[in-house]
Amino acid sequence: MTREYDLILMGATSFVGQITYRRLAEYIHQKDPTLTFAIAGRSTEKLASVQRDVSQRLNLKLDTPMITVNSMNAADMKRVAQSAKVVISTVGPFDQYGEQLVKACAENGTHYCDLTGEPNFIADMLERYEATAQNSGACIVHCCGFDSLPSDLGAYYLQQQAKALFGEPCQEIDMRVNRMAGTLSGGTMASMINIVKKAKDDKALRKTLMNPYALAPDLKKVKQKFFNKVVQDKVKPGWLAPFMMASINTKIVLRTAMQRPDLFPENFLYSEAMHMGDGPGGKKRAKRMALGLGVVAIGAAIAPARWVLEKFVLPKPGTGPSEQAQIDGFFTIVHYGTTAKGEKIAVEVHGDQDPGYGSTAKMLTQAAVVLAKELPSDQAGGFWTPAAIMAESLIPRLSTHAGVSIKTID
Ligand SMILES: NC(=O)c1ccc[n+]([C@@H]2O[C@H](COP(=O)([O-])OP(=O)(O)OC[C@H]3O[C@@H](n4cnc5c(N)ncnc54)[C@H](OP(=O)(O)O)[C@@H]3O)[C@@H](O)[C@H]2O)c1
Repeated sequence: MTREYDLILMGATSFVGQITYRRLAEYIHQKDPTLTFAIAGRSTEKLASVQRDVSQRLNLKLDTPMITVNSMNAADMKRVAQSAKVVISTVGPFDQYGEQLVKACAENGTHYCDLTGEPNFIADMLERYEATAQNSGACIVHCCGFDSLPSDLGAYYLQQQAKALFGEPCQEIDMRVNRMAGTLSGGTMASMINIVKKAKDDKALRKTLMNPYALAPDLKKVKQKFFNKVVQDKVKPGWLAPFMMASINTKIVLRTAMQRPDLFPENFLYSEAMHMGDGPGGKKRAKRMALGLGVVAIGAAIAPARWVLEKFVLPKPGTGPSEQAQIDGFFTIVHYGTTAKGEKIAVEVHGDQDPGYGSTAKMLTQAAVVLAKELPSDQAGGFWTPAAIMAESLIPRLSTHAGVSIKTID
């Protein structure tokens, strides 16, 4: 594929896009100077200002080419798709702004990755452009941020280890968020509120959101566990609260199970929840967490409450956690696997910065580099999950370049 750039970062002015730009520029400068890249967004002035800021932070004189384009304009998106081998997108809410770029990449054989966590958007893109991507050879990989890389790669790695140790993959994996420090950006809140608002009046959308197999239509369906209230954990002593990202992560892991039947058995079970600790303290924390999630979900669905949340409580689009909060943040999740014979294995995924921004930007950067450089020459096009298409390259890359480790634990 001969293209002007190896990579284009679309949305370099977004809160998470700016961090991704910094990570990408830093990685290319220090480790891979042969990679070429450009940044794209709808305002030349804003792109230039971001470039100045990133240059200053990295103490580099960056001269990254800038492309001024609008996500809603099909011709603009075609121009972006035809100029790069890989396009990275951080323009969200994806359901509002994402379609033209996915379409253009699918039509032009351009690999694509993003950090959406919006199942409705992915389901729509699959329905409209999967055949197009399969024909053109484009590999479209959604969910390369905290949703859903740690869940997806952790489950994949666990199955590989289980096969090596026990001769068979696990029948069931329960993922627990053990510890996590981080907050949400305005763009993420806008994406979540957009889904809740739409789902209120759209029965089909509600069905998609509730269906763990929404992105894995070919998988044999079994009843999956779903934690929507405080319960005692059967895997590890303590109390569980619902995990906000469980819905999208479960759909992605089940799609990986569909795309990699060599690693995932029929009737595979997957669940996610937050482990809030043991004893009365753990129960109290779990209740507080469940209550907080409920208040935001209900508030987002009711117009006046939504107005109050957007105006006074939640971060505004373009804003998010401070740099210090990103550095102080981290996440530790554990996948607990059980084989059909009852053998057990656990895999820990740990990130050294806050999940949604510091770690997400580094993970997204490395996913894009794999797409640009490390796919096999006979790689089939289509809509792949991160684990199904690039786990082998990405797991070691995350450990070396992104501060994310994945390992078996006792
Ligand atoms: N999976 C994860 O873990 C994860 C983590 C973080 C964020 N996210 C997702 O990433 C997305 C971005 O989040 P954020 O907080 O960075 O958002 P944000 O700061 O509000 O940024 C939104 C971006 O979209 C751009 N944009 C909007 N309309 C556009 C158009 N018509 N043409 C071109 N660009 C357009 C904006 O450009 P301007 O700057 O010109 O306004 C801006 O760059 C959200 O969907 C969020 O949910 C996911």
